[in-house]
Amino acid sequence: MNSTSLLLFSIVSLFLVAANGFWETESLLKFKKSLVIGRAGALESWDRKNPTCTWTGVLCHQGKIWGLRLENIELSGSLNIEALTSLRSLRSLSFMNNKLNGPFPEFKKLGALKSIYLSNNQYDVEIPRDAFDGMGWLKKLHLENNKFVGEIPSSIAKYPKVLEVRLDGNRFTGQIPEFTHELHMLNLSNNGLSGPIPKVLSKMDRKMFEGNKELCGEPLDMECTSPYNVSSEPKKRSKKKTSKFLYIAAAVVAALLAILIIIGVIIAICRRRRNKQPPLSADGEPSSLQKRAGIQDSDKGQSSCHSQNRTAKRMIHTTKLTFLRDDKEKFELQDLLKASAEILGSGCFGGSYKTVLSNGSNMVVKRFKHMNNAGSDEFQDHMKRLGRLKNDNLLPIVAYYYKKEEKLFVFDFVQKGSLAGHLHGHKSLGQPSLDWPTRLNIVKGVGRGLLYLHKNLPSLMAPHGHLKSSNVLLSENFEPLLTDYGLIPMINEESAQELMVAYKSPEFLTQSRVTKKTDVWGLGVLILEILTGKFPDSFPQANQEKEETMVSWVKSIFKGEWTQELFDQEMGKTNNCEEEILKLLRIGLSCCEEEVEKRLDIREAVAKIEDLMKEREQGDDDFYSTYAASEADGRSSRGVSSEGINLA
Ligand SMILES: *[C@@H]1O[C@H](CO)[C@@H](O)[C@H](O)[C@H]1NC(C)=O
Ligand SMILES: *[C@@H]1O[C@H](CO)[C@@H](O)[C@H](O)[C@H]1NC(C)=O
Repeated sequence: MNSTSLLLFSIVSLFLVAANGFWETESLLKFKKSLVIGRAGALESWDRKNPTCTWTGVLCHQGKIWGLRLENIELSGSLNIEALTSLRSLRSLSFMNNKLNGPFPEFKKLGALKSIYLSNNQYDVEIPRDAFDGMGWLKKLHLENNKFVGEIPSSIAKYPKVLEVRLDGNRFTGQIPEFTHELHMLNLSNNGLSGPIPKVLSKMDRKMFEGNKELCGEPLDMECTSPYNVSSEPKKRSKKKTSKFLYIAAAVVAALLAILIIIGVIIAICRRRRNKQPPLSADGEPSSLQKRAGIQDSDKGQSSCHSQNRTAKRMIHTTKLTFLRDDKEKFELQDLLKASAEILGSGCFGGSYKTVLSNGSNMVVKRFKHMNNAGSDEFQDHMKRLGRLKNDNLLPIVAYYYKKEEKLFVFDFVQKGSLAGHLHGHKSLGQPSLDWPTRLNIVKGVGRGLLYLHKNLPSLMAPHGHLKSSNVLLSENFEPLLTDYGLIPMINEESAQELMVAYKSPEFLTQSRVTKKTDVWGLGVLILEILTGKFPDSFPQANQEKEETMVSWVKSIFKGEWTQELFDQEMGKTNNCEEEILKLLRIGLSCCEEEVEKRLDIREAVAKIEDLMKEREQGDDDFYSTYAASEADGRSSRGVSSEGINLA
């Protein structure tokens, strides 16, 4: 009985899977039928005898169709979006550089789309006001260089995920709709727009508004005058603004009051400690941890408030730290709280605090918000898995504390702080900069740590997922220790996409996917950062396709040979190491290869780094011969360059 039902179940599910594939094939063929294709034979591969994922322009990930990319094939006529509604995982459509016209395609029937590219076609219609209603996932909309007329549809302005909109080179008229938020890119140039530029857009590059009839307000120099503050709409707007202002004022007053009350309560408690309880939030410790961080500089307040810990203890007793390692003396949350906390920094998920246990060891408590992607059991399982990891280049998680609203992770304190600090802030820290051998050794350690993660967390798409210089700590002898690894499954999807490094990779930005090679890209950027001393985030991120990134900057300067200006001047003496440095730069660049297929995988990348290390060590054994060789090299190839002068 049981086995027959199981059999039945598997037959039904097999049938469903097959049916799904069948429907996808048929839908695509129906879509193809509606197309008028100018370039003969362009979609020849669209045939039932081939699997759909091999068809030209059909983009798949793990057997699921996520995108259609039919560019430059002289498509004309109108698009039958209806036919695509059965493609469940479709997220991206591009029909750029064709000759499409007809009514505006009904993209809103595909509510899950993240990007739409219709640039360089021949649309000359008005876009219905509600054309994007219900498209809450839409991130990128490219309609530039068509002949669209009428007003910009207001439905594009209301979804918070919309980040990149190009409408330039059309014939849009009327006013710009009220966007709810600032976009990474909104190109409205060369249209016939008029009226005031909404406040949220006033910080954008003025080039984005150039070539319009009569736009006014910031960032343009043209001030808005009468017609726009007399007409009915802007009046509403200004009303909205004043009410917004009132809200803000009320919020500020309320916040000030709250702060005053809290300060009052603290003072009262510290004075009359016999009668009163300490100011704990109803459920406890994280906020008291913060408060402790806040009052640490007043010794008196601290010691008198310390003795108030009895009630706090009682509350905390019910909630225990979970230890992931046996090689550590156990302690409790209140032991951490007993000590004064020092704020170390505020990362994107929450702050870190340093505290001292009674046995004298320094610990770091790191708070994580936005970590509710996994349920409690799943979370605990994942933490156990992370706890089992053991590698010289990973900073182990000693213990954690789980609560729905926030999680606390406890680590050992690492003496030398982060790589980011050493690369970008060593002067203000009063420390010497890192020399080349140390930098190479750090790259090697980071590579080894990553490789270990990839071997031991094979189920994760990006086993690290958040590799950046501030998440690489340096031990006493400058060995790198990775932190914040393996977090992706636990971070809320939205926050992850906003905050985590893996989601800044080219494959995520262009194709909304993260792959096994995404961490390699992170390693590549880190290598470039270590070599150039430039901070990757200091390059504008707005539009990865056009604007400068760390990678494009390096590529624009690096012409295959030594270029002094590319490298961190703080690296100190690099004489005779130029070849090594260039080799590492090339490895870094191949890790950053935009096309995932061409990019090294983690094994290859680490093997190349290890080879470089080996060469170096051999070179040291063989010091004189290599020195002589490179000296000779230096003379012949460089002539009297600045390095040449040393030799003279
Ligand atoms: C904005 O549009 C103009 C006109 O089409 C174009 O020349 C420019 O490159 C665009 N800028 C960006 C950043 O896309
Ligand atoms: C509207 O325009 C007049 C000048 O025409 C100006 O004095 C006034 O400040 C503007 N009103 C508002 C509310 O901006």
